[in-house]
Amino acid sequence: MSALIPRPAMEVAPGAWHVPGWLTLAQQRELVTACRAWATGPVPIRHTRLPRGGVMSVQTVCVGWHWQPYRYTRTADDVNGRRVAEFPDWMVRLGRRAHLEAYGDEHAARDHTPDTALINFYDGQARMGMHQDKDERSSAPVVSLSIGDTCVFRVGNTETRSKPYTDIELSSGDLFVLGGPSRFAFHGVPKVYEGTGDPATGLSSGRLNITMRVTGLT
Ligand code: SIN
Ligand code: FE2
Repeated sequence: MSALIPRPAMEVAPGAWHVPGWLTLAQQRELVTACRAWATGPVPIRHTRLPRGGVMSVQTVCVGWHWQPYRYTRTADDVNGRRVAEFPDWMVRLGRRAHLEAYGDEHAARDHTPDTALINFYDGQARMGMHQDKDERSSAPVVSLSIGDTCVFRVGNTETRSKPYTDIELSSGDLFVLGGPSRFAFHGVPKVYEGTGDPATGLSSGRLNITMRVTGLT
């Protein structure tokens, strides 16, 4: 059914696609439920410690592979040493659908096999500075799903963390895909608009972002 409804997909930068309202409310609720379960274990959600001693303002839990600055491992050696939860097949299928939605290439979408998801929770004060997703050994697109409070998402260039960049708003249910020439573009979340989410998603406050990635690791 959804394939018949044209969506206002926008190419924010070459290969970077924003599809507002891609997830139904029911799908958002299911994702919130799954993320809530992952947040409790086997590796609990936490503020990631940075090498210089700070902590990230977002709280993160991973599935498939565990990310810590700046590498992926199977076990969460900076948390409790346990192996992270398996990356579920339904998430592979979701990643493929997102790829198809963004690029419209059935062959490429079928070959797209994400194997890790970073689940980030932003409370009202949390932000994410400009960075590149470059710990993956793959140039496959990064698929991002947002639930809860609306944020400002900044999509920059591949050279510097400063201008030129484009600011867009990511709202609950939005899909964003960072691929092609923008795969290694700097990006970040300078602001979250507190209290803008719909509690019917199952998230009473804050913003949940799920990025599904291909690590290229075995
Ligand atoms: C990220 O860059 O990994 C997260 C982006 C977001 O929260 O939208
Ligand atoms: Fe990122």
